[in-house]
Amino acid sequence: MNQITVNTSRPYDILIGEGLLGRTGEYVRRVSKCRKAAVITDDIVASYYLDEVEASLKREGLETCAHVFPNGEASKRHATLLDVYEFLTQNQLTRSDLIVALGGGVVGDLAGFAAATYLRGIDFVQIPTTFLAQIDSSVGGKTAVDTPHGKNLVGAFHQPILVLCDLDALSTLPEENFKDGVGEAIKYGMIKDARLFELLRSGACKEHLLDVVTTCIDIKRAVVENDELDRGERMLLNFGHTVGHAVENYMGYQLTHGKCVGVGMAVISKAAAEAGIGDREVYTAVVEALKAYDMPYALDIDYDAALNACLSDKKRDKDEIRCILIRKIGEGYVYTMKASDFKPFALKGVK
Ligand SMILES: NC(=O)c1ccc[n+]([C@@H]2O[C@H](COP(=O)([O-])OP(=O)(O)OC[C@H]3O[C@@H](n4cnc5c(N)ncnc54)[C@H](O)[C@@H]3O)[C@@H](O)[C@H]2O)c1
Ligand SMILES: [Zn+2]
Repeated sequence: MNQITVNTSRPYDILIGEGLLGRTGEYVRRVSKCRKAAVITDDIVASYYLDEVEASLKREGLETCAHVFPNGEASKRHATLLDVYEFLTQNQLTRSDLIVALGGGVVGDLAGFAAATYLRGIDFVQIPTTFLAQIDSSVGGKTAVDTPHGKNLVGAFHQPILVLCDLDALSTLPEENFKDGVGEAIKYGMIKDARLFELLRSGACKEHLLDVVTTCIDIKRAVVENDELDRGERMLLNFGHTVGHAVENYMGYQLTHGKCVGVGMAVISKAAAEAGIGDREVYTAVVEALKAYDMPYALDIDYDAALNACLSDKKRDKDEIRCILIRKIGEGYVYTMKASDFKPFALKGVK
């Protein structure tokens, strides 16, 4: 088992290994004296793991209650959140009790936001069960729900008191969901870690899961510690994301996030090479890595129309766009350009 301590305003540990779900109670007891744990999860994750987690908490003398909502991004909204508040109130959760977020990024973001706001904030533990949630959404303390106007528009920074990344949970994760995590893992390699990138490019992600998950978490840890509230270095994590979000939005969220980010990384790397500010090897390396997992790197879509969505992207500051480019594999940097230059620049990457 590996352990990473995240030194944010409120430090916490992330444990990464096998067989952790069945020991949830023991690990929770080390960090909390709570009387009651409210497990929040979705229907698919509940069917696999809820009994095991609740039984483990009970063995340590904790009272438990569970709230299960339908899986999928559509649940990450206020109506579900209100149900969660209702559930917490009915079960008389107090400020000294605990929320356990058991599931992917949707559960983590929603249960985390409930924890950030219920009674002005109570403790929560993240048990991420998707590859993406383990390496990305469960680290960094961002919690949110979507509104009809867009994703993650209402949220809060609220750090968990503990994160348990059980690699065994990934054995039930569908391949297509796994690929979303691969997109983000490739991103981490490109911006910070050439060794990780080469391991991923070789197609051996699953054979080295403990290494990959630990390395990705450690990269996010370092970035988040330097920039907890997302005002500077954390922007590096947006490599591939401006175009990725535009594609995701344009496709009506039919192509999932990590795959859109993959396409975004390919497009922006090619654009940089075409514009003479990037190495073509970076582009070919991104494409090779994506191909190794049978992930898309170019789409037959109207990028011009898709990119118009970027102009309202929240990463745009005044009339500038901060675009993340790659100096060499393992080294991302922020390249600032005029907002009006971004679309013509990015379109160089799709010809
Ligand atoms: N907070 C952050 O910093 C941050 C970062 C990145 C993404 N996110 C958010 O994360 C969300 C996406 O997360 P996600 O990709 O984990 O999606 P998700 O939570 O919707 O999970 C994907 C699917 O996998 C199922 N699932 C989860 N674990 C499983 C398992 N072990 N076995 C079988 N099925 C399982 C879920 O029921 C769901 O159907 C988005 O809402 C995104 O905005 C947040
Ligand atoms: Zn992402």
